[in-house]
This record gives sequence, structure tokens and C-alpha cells, in this order.
Amino acid sequence: MRSGRLHARATTFDRLLKPVHRWIWRNVERRVQKLLRFSETEIDGGRDILRAAELTSDPVLRRLYLEHAIDEFRHGLMFRQRAGSVLRELPLRSKRTLQLDWPAPGGHGLDDLQIDKESDGSLLAFLHLSEKAAASRFTIYRDVMQHDPPTRAIFAEILNDERFHMNYTLTHLVRVAPERHRRHLWRARLSRLWKGYLRLATALASAMGALILTIQYFTVLPPFAWLAKRAARRESPGWFPISSERNGSLRRQY
Ligand SMILES: [Fe+2]
Ligand SMILES: [Fe+2]
Repeated sequence: MRSGRLHARATTFDRLLKPVHRWIWRNVERRVQKLLRFSETEIDGGRDILRAAELTSDPVLRRLYLEHAIDEFRHGLMFRQRAGSVLRELPLRSKRTLQLDWPAPGGHGLDDLQIDKESDGSLLAFLHLSEKAAASRFTIYRDVMQHDPPTRAIFAEILNDERFHMNYTLTHLVRVAPERHRRHLWRARLSRLWKGYLRLATALASAMGALILTIQYFTVLPPFAWLAKRAARRESPGWFPISSERNGSLRRQY
């Protein structure tokens, strides 16, 4: 068992959203979708950190990155196994209608990272903020999961690891960049903010696109449908003779 030096608290924003999280997690189908998405995010994050272990020239960081990557893979498996157990308890009808595209950001945001372009300092700053965000989210998820003790236990266990990740990344950021660690943290904060804005703007644009297309469907299409129906009504039914000028012999195709 690891104990975190800094005890991450949930951010005010996450605490304000607690009722929303409670509502989301209460539904069993959404819970499965979120757990599966988290599993994917954790395993992807682990893969990125494994790449960071290959690239760093710092032996201490390499060992920590390897340990970190193993943790993230393990988290991914824990989420996947739990999703499988919850899924097996679902009635057959719900399984059939289950759609696995529920948008569920895991909190890490490691998907935003391009490992090959990062220095040790910038990577550690990014990882520190990502782990801090994950710890904040997982604190809330653990708290709203009273109705599902096994999932709650998973969040509690993972939260412990996320705190360790959050702490070691900050400690080693200060070690590798004693003069510039604050600047690295600010740059990482701004980068996360910008990417968050882009994600929000994309989601908003997609929602607006759907709304505009729906409005067009109900306002622009009906006149065309009405005109087509009117033209169909004017057509005389069945076979009818054609004019003599259009009734020449078939010497050409058109
Ligand atoms: Fe994790
Ligand atoms: Fe982590």
C-alpha cells in the first residue's frame, strides 16, 4: 500500500458537479459504459508512460515511469473486469440496447500528450496535473458510489495510486527543473485549459450542428415533400400514350 504525501482533495468544480456524477453513475448501463471508457483511457495512458520510460535518459525516472505504466495498465484491467461483472448482472434486454459511446473523460487527459516531443520537465508537469485531476475526479466517484461497494472499492484503491503518481511527478519535476518547475506547471496548465476549451467547443459545435439539421428537417423539407406529393397527384395513373414527336424509331440511345 502506498500513502500519498499530498492528500489530493476534489476541486471545487468537481464538488459542484457531484449531483451530476451521482446521477450518471446511478444508472447501471451508463456505469458500464463509463467503466469501459476509463479502462481504455488508463491503458492508453499506460502505453504513453511506457514510451516515456523508453525515451528518458534519467534512470530514476525510467524506473518510476515503468512502475507508473504498470499501475495504469492494472487500473485499466480493474475497470474492464468490473465493467464485465456489472454487465453480466444486467438483464438481457439492457445488454442488447447498450451503446458503448457514452462520452466519459477519465480525468487523466493523457490522450492529449505527445510523448516524443516532451522534455522530462514538461512531461512531469503535465503528468502531475493529469494525475491531480484524476485524483480529484476519483475522490468524487468513490464518494458517490455508496450503492455499488465493489466499484467504490476499485476507485478507492486506484485513488491511492493516483495520489502516488501526483506526488512523485511533482517531487521529480522540482528535482529535474529546480529553477523552471513553476514555468513548466503553468505551461502545462495553459495547455490543458486550451485543450479543454477545444473539446468543449467541438462538443458545442456538434450539438449545434445536430440542432440546426433537426430544425432544417422540420422546416425546409416539408414544402418539398408537399410539392412532390402534389406533382404525384397530378400524374394520371397507369399507362398512357406519348406524343408522336417523342415516339420515333429507336436509332439512338437518347
Ligand atoms: Fe490511473
Ligand atoms: Fe495515474
